[in-house]
Amino acid sequence: MLKLAVLISGGGSNLQALLDAAANPEFPAEIVCVGSDTDAPGLEFATAAGIPTFVVRPADYGSREEWGQVLAAAIQEHGVGTGPNPGLVVSAGLMRILPGGFVRWFSPQLINTHPALLPAFPGAHAVRDALAAGVTETGVTVHVIDEGVDTGPVLRQIAVPVRAGDTEAELHERIKREERPLLVETVREIAAGTLDLAAVAAARP
Ligand code: GAR
Repeated sequence: MLKLAVLISGGGSNLQALLDAAANPEFPAEIVCVGSDTDAPGLEFATAAGIPTFVVRPADYGSREEWGQVLAAAIQEHGVGTGPNPGLVVSAGLMRILPGGFVRWFSPQLINTHPALLPAFPGAHAVRDALAAGVTETGVTVHVIDEGVDTGPVLRQIAVPVRAGDTEAELHERIKREERPLLVETVREIAAGTLDLAAVAAARP
């Protein structure tokens, strides 16, 4: 059973999709903790499911690296990132760049979901940026996190059409309808061993 630490900053609909999947005993992963950089509303989904949560706020630390160390320690307390079975950290709407020390500790067992077809539209405003660029198609990417901003190896992607007159919220919700099952399926594949993150990272040009 793969142990998952899920990191969020907002509403947590991707977290809820993972919780729903993990509630099935046949799902090969279990969520052992949910962390955030802020009082994210989505933390309540974890609490409702009886899963421990923690908040580690960047403003409480002198540097991003220090914040990352405390966040890593909070995750390690739940058995992710330590021992022979290191589990997986899932950034599911965490709106922070994870610092280098954090990434090096958990890599390659560290994935992110992003609402664009990377390498297009990295960063915090992917949906807004896609609309501003006037593209007719955007989408969602699940990728391994490296030390860049949304630059790690792509695992899975789904394209989503942009419709005339879309607002940012409408387009983002259309993306999320594809994103939630894609994230669940990617985690399932990693947990089942059919998607090997170490091999993906090693194959990187
Ligand atoms: C998701 O669409 C995720 O891809 C995005 O935040 C949303 C969180 O939704 N993440 C980023 O933009 C990271 N750059 P949720 O809170 O409903 O799961």
